[in-house]
Amino acid sequence: MTAGVLIVGTTLGAWVTHRNTPIVKWSATAALVLLPLQVILGGLTVTEDLQPTIVTTHLGVAILILLCLLTTCLVAYLRR
Ligand code: HEM
Repeated sequence: MTAGVLIVGTTLGAWVTHRNTPIVKWSATAALVLLPLQVILGGLTVTEDLQPTIVTTHLGVAILILLCLLTTCLVAYLRR
């Protein structure tokens, strides 16, 4: 829930303050697009009793979200 609010805020901030820097806008947007998938996978992790494929996919999507958000922050910082 907290992560979701922060990702929505980051994406809004990226579109408002870096509208001329496509990589900042689109890497934040990619994290936002991955968020619902991550929540569904999180639910499946619980309901499917930690099935290894689902847990691994949940971890993989988490790493992709982290990559997107790191890209957003680093490029925004370097282009400030
Ligand atoms: C932004 C959303 C989320 C992110 C970034 C996230 C990220 C992660 C990460 C990095 C792990 C550790 C994976 C591992 O050790 O292999 C994890 C584990 C887990 N997540 Fe999520 N998660 C999210 C949402 C959810 C939601 C919504 C649920 C449940 C409804 C959930 C349920 C779980 C469970 C049960 C585990 C433990 C798996 C285990 O014991 O190996 N997650 N999550």
